[in-house]
Amino acid sequence: MVCALRSIRGLWMERFFCSNCKRIYPLQPARWRCDCGSFLDLEFESRFPIQRILKRNPTLWRYREAIPIRHDASILSMGEGFTPLEEIQFNGNRIRLKVDYLFPTGSYKDRGATVLISKMKEWGVQKVVEDSSGNAGSAIAAYSAKAGIRCDIYVPQYTSPGKLVQIGAYGATLKKVEGSRERTAEKAMKAASKIPYASHCWNPFFLHGTKTFAFEVWEQMDWKAPDTLVLPIGHGTLFLGVHMGFKELKKAGMVKTIPKMVGVQSAACAPLYQAFKKNWREPRSIEKKETMAEGIAIAEPVRGRQILEVIGETGGEIVVVTEREIGLALREMGQRGHFIEPTSAATIAGLKRYLKKKRRKETIVSTLTGMGLKSAGKML
Ligand SMILES: Cc1ncc(COP(=O)(O)O)c(C=O)c1O
Ligand SMILES: [Zn+2]
Repeated sequence: MVCALRSIRGLWMERFFCSNCKRIYPLQPARWRCDCGSFLDLEFESRFPIQRILKRNPTLWRYREAIPIRHDASILSMGEGFTPLEEIQFNGNRIRLKVDYLFPTGSYKDRGATVLISKMKEWGVQKVVEDSSGNAGSAIAAYSAKAGIRCDIYVPQYTSPGKLVQIGAYGATLKKVEGSRERTAEKAMKAASKIPYASHCWNPFFLHGTKTFAFEVWEQMDWKAPDTLVLPIGHGTLFLGVHMGFKELKKAGMVKTIPKMVGVQSAACAPLYQAFKKNWREPRSIEKKETMAEGIAIAEPVRGRQILEVIGETGGEIVVVTEREIGLALREMGQRGHFIEPTSAATIAGLKRYLKKKRRKETIVSTLTGMGLKSAGKML
């Protein structure tokens, strides 16, 4: 009877599903993609009991009924989340910026890592592998350290030294890979045939952490959704998570509308911009150039099709920014008291481009995703 009741409420109904071929799979740590090769999503029913949420500590775990971890004892938390939503003016426009570099590892990636590694712990996993441009690796390494889970982090050789030191400090084994970010991913995927893959782009539990950005914005805006979100896109784990968060809120009757989703890419590496402009269903190969926005220098986004669908569904778009604009935004934000990394400055440069066509009363939320100290060496 209890079993039946709980499954009706959705608590025992979680499973992986593939939006490409419609296969479904039971949850298990070794499964990181579909047999058809596509990424997987997670079926899960979120609930938002506002009176209970309000009684809890200001961390992202206050939305407990919307996070797919079964037992409280599995939760690995360092008090992360519920970051400030700061009001700021750009050329006379009032914008709200989520200050997401204020996380234990200095970037928003902790949103995904706290949930994904809690799930790995719940599964009894002893070791994980991950690949990253640096920040996701730091976040996975930090939460693995807290869980007592060993981890191998694959990074491109060119990653900012600050991020490499940080990953090492958490006790992870650092695997530096010569060549591109894509080559790094290939190496990690090979390792993932034997070791569970705590991948921020493949594993949907990561998105069920990044979605908490949406819940926090909803609460901080008096339980309303903004009109538009301007967010960075590399693999799109924040972009997709935030959209998923607002979709869940809408399904639960908590907001009336889902915001328009605007993504920002670097002009030096903009596979999704190209696909968006040409109306393609999937991104295709591009010629990637150097950019200081290392976190969004992703030529082959795993969930590219999904990102393009979200843009189509919400009437959104992608804007691209030049190196010069990124540099100017970096300097401007420093002078406004925010020391951010160049990848985060790219989002601000994109926001400024978007503001040129903003509607008069449009409410816009954007973000500062990563702390400047991480790439201080490169910035020098
Ligand atoms: C600081 C920062 N901002 C934004 C991004 C982009 O995130 P995603 O690849 O999930 O789109 C990254 C990714 O590494 C990052 O490090
Ligand atoms: Zn499939």
